[in-house]
Amino acid sequence: MSRLFLPALALATLAFSLAGPAQGQNRSAQNQPSQPAAVQDPNAMAWRSGPEAAEIERRVEALLAQMTLDEKIGQLNLTGRGDGFDPQWVATGRSGAIMNFIDPREVRRLQDLARTSRLQIPLIIGLDAIHGFATYFPQPIGQAATFDPKLIELAAYWTARESRAAGVNWTFAPMVDLTRDPRWGRVFEGAGEDVHLASVVAAARVRGYHRGGVATSVKHFAGYGEAEAGRDYNSVWIPLSKLLDRHVPPFQAAIAAGAFTAMTSLSAMNGMPATADRGLLTDLLKGRLGFRGFVVSDFASIEELIKHGVAADGAEAARKALLAGVDMDMFSGLYIQHLADEVRAERVPVAAIDEAVRRILRVKFHMGLFEAAPVDPAATAGLLITPPARAAALAVAREAMVLLKNDGDILPIRPDVRSIAVVGALAMVDEDWQYGDNVGLPRIRRSTVQAELARHLGPQVRISAHSGFTTQCGIELAEREATLAAARAADLIVAVLGEECEFMGESASRTRLDLPGVQGELLNDLIATGKPVVLVLKTGRPLVLTDIAARVPAIIQSFHLGSEGRVAIGEVLTGRVNPSGKLPMSMPRSVGQIPVYYDHLPTGRPQIKHERYESSFIDERNEPLFPFGFGLSYTRFTLDQLVLDQARVPLAGTIVGSVRITNAGARDGREVVQVYLRQRVGSRSRPVRELKAFEKVTLAAGASQTVRFAVPVEALAFHDDQGRRRLEPGLYDVFVGTDSRASLAATVEVGE
Ligand code: NOJ
Repeated sequence: MSRLFLPALALATLAFSLAGPAQGQNRSAQNQPSQPAAVQDPNAMAWRSGPEAAEIERRVEALLAQMTLDEKIGQLNLTGRGDGFDPQWVATGRSGAIMNFIDPREVRRLQDLARTSRLQIPLIIGLDAIHGFATYFPQPIGQAATFDPKLIELAAYWTARESRAAGVNWTFAPMVDLTRDPRWGRVFEGAGEDVHLASVVAAARVRGYHRGGVATSVKHFAGYGEAEAGRDYNSVWIPLSKLLDRHVPPFQAAIAAGAFTAMTSLSAMNGMPATADRGLLTDLLKGRLGFRGFVVSDFASIEELIKHGVAADGAEAARKALLAGVDMDMFSGLYIQHLADEVRAERVPVAAIDEAVRRILRVKFHMGLFEAAPVDPAATAGLLITPPARAAALAVAREAMVLLKNDGDILPIRPDVRSIAVVGALAMVDEDWQYGDNVGLPRIRRSTVQAELARHLGPQVRISAHSGFTTQCGIELAEREATLAAARAADLIVAVLGEECEFMGESASRTRLDLPGVQGELLNDLIATGKPVVLVLKTGRPLVLTDIAARVPAIIQSFHLGSEGRVAIGEVLTGRVNPSGKLPMSMPRSVGQIPVYYDHLPTGRPQIKHERYESSFIDERNEPLFPFGFGLSYTRFTLDQLVLDQARVPLAGTIVGSVRITNAGARDGREVVQVYLRQRVGSRSRPVRELKAFEKVTLAAGASQTVRFAVPVEALAFHDDQGRRRLEPGLYDVFVGTDSRASLAATVEVGE
C-alpha cells in the first residue's frame, strides 16, 4: 500500500513561494495585520434538527432492521492502514470506519468498496489532523495562547477543509484534557490548565472542524491529563467533585458545540480503566451530559483492558467495553472477533449491540455521509496549501507567541543593530514538527528565521546563521568555534532552541524540563560571549526557565507554530507584529513545584509572612516563574475604572461590569482583558480565583476602550463530593487584569 501522497509535487512548488507581507523594513507595529475572514463551506456538518432529525431516526431504524448481526458488529469495527489491513473488510461490511489513510486514491477505492457492500453504508474516515493536514497551524497549546476563539476556529476550519479534500471526514480532535503537569508529553495537544479557556477553545475547535466538513472526536474521556507524575498512560485519581468542576466542562462545551463522537482515555481513573467504566461513559457522558454521538475507544484500549487487569481475555474485554458504553473499537479487533459469540452465549444482549450501531448510523446520517459525493483524487492537490489556508496559518502563528521577557526593550530589534547571529537548528530546519507525521504526510520546505530577518531588515544588517548542534534534538555541538565567533562578532544573538524529535507528544513524558541535549550548553556559551541574547523557544510544553530567564534579556515562547511559523517569528522579532499571546499554562520555577496552577484552593496556612509553618517550600517560592495568562507586549496596557453594573445580583442573574483599558505605549497592540472570580465563603473551600471571562482587544497607541464583560452567576456553580451541583449566595470578589495575578478588584453580592 502506497505511503506516498499524490500531490507532493504541488506541495513542493508552493513551498518555495512564501507569500509574506510586503517586503522592506517596517519597524513599527502600526499596522497590526488583519485576520482572514472565514469562508462558508458546502461540506459543513452539524446535528440536524426538527423533521430532518426525525427522518434520520426513521432511516436509522429502517437500516438497523435490515442488518445481520455480523453487519451490525462490522459497523462497530474501526480498522485502518497498518498491519494486516484487508480492503475486503470494507467490501463485506466488516469495517464501518477506517483511519490513517491520507492518499485520496486509496480513500476513494475504499469508499467505492463500501458502496459495493450489501447495505452500502458509507465509511467514516478518521485521522489525527490535530493542527493541520498539509498546511500546519500552531500546535493546539499555541492556538490556545492566542486567546482568540475566532482564530482557533479558523485553524480548525482550514485543517478540516484540507483533510476533507483528501477524503478524511473525521478527526481525533480536539483533545480537551486539562494539562497541569508539563512533564506530560501531550501538553502540546491541549489548551492548558484553565477550565474556562479550555472550554472556549474546545467549542471553537469543534465549530471550525465541522464548518470545514470534518466530524470531531472530543477526547480523552476522562482525566487523561492527570496521569500521575506526568507519566503517560499512568493511573489518575480524581474525586468526583473535581472531575465535574474541572475535567468535564471542556467536554460539555465541545458537546454543546456539536461534537459528533468522543474518545475514551487510555488510563484508569480511580482504579477503573476508562474504556470499561460504565459510570463514566454511559451514566455521565451519555446520560448526565446528554451526549448523542458515539464513543470510540482509544487505540487498542479495549485490548489493553487485559493488561489493566480487568479482563481475563479478549472476549471479556470486548464485553466489558461494549457494556460500559464503548460503541466503536479502534484497532483492537476484539469486537469483530468476539461480540457475535458473546451475543449467542447471551452474555451481551443484542439490544446493547443495536444501541451502539444506532449511535454510529445516526452520526453517519447527521454527518451527511449517505448523500456526500466520494472524494475526487484529481481535485485534492488544488485544495491544499491554498493562499487563504496559509494566510490563516500565518494569522494564528502571529498571535500564538508569548513574550515572556523583554528587558530594556531589546525587542523589537533596534535600528542600531547592524549584525545578528542566528543560532540553533530550529531556526533553520526546513521542516515543521507535526503530530501525525507518523501517518506519512510529506514534509514541506519552509523559510528560515535568518531569511525572514534578512527580508525585513534589508542588506544593511549582516546576518549569520549557525545550527549550533548537529540534530534537531541537540545531540552534539556543531561548529562550536565558528558559531561562537559569529556570536561574538554580532550586535545581537537570536537563539532558536527547544524541543523536537521525541521530546513531544504521546509517550514523551520528561522528568527534567530543560533544553534537551546540548542546547543548554550552547546557550551558556552564547550568554558567555557577553552579547545580548534573544531566546526564541519552540517547545511543546512549558520548560523550567528559571536559570535561563535570569541571564537572557528577552524570551519568546513560541511553542511550535506550524508552516508559517518562521515568517511570524521574523515579523515579531522585527516589530512588524506586536506579540499578544498569553500563557495557557503556568511556567514552573522548578520541576519540584509541579503541579503549579493558578486556580488552586487556599490553605489554612497561606504564605503571607514568608515564615516557617506556612504552606510553602523551604527551597523554592510558591509562585510559578511566569503565571497563567501572562504575556508581554511591545506596548504597555493599563486598566482602570472597574465598575460593576449592580452590587447585588440574583442567583439566576448575570454579573455585568466594565473596565477601561488604555494602550499607554507607543505602538498599536492587542491585549487580553481577563476576569477572575472568587467565592469568599462557601460550603466547601473554593479556588483562590477562577477565570470566568476574557476578551482580546486591539488598541491603537494612546487609545482607550471600555470593555464590557458578563459572567452568568450559574458559571460560579461547583459540585460536592456526591456530584451535586451547588450555586451559593454570598460575596464574590471580581478581579480584572492582564494575567492571573489580576489585582483590580470589586465585590458583588450574589443573592437568593
Ligand atoms: C492514541 C492517542 O491517544 C489518541 O489521541 C489518538 O487519536 C489515537 N492514538 C489515534 O491515532
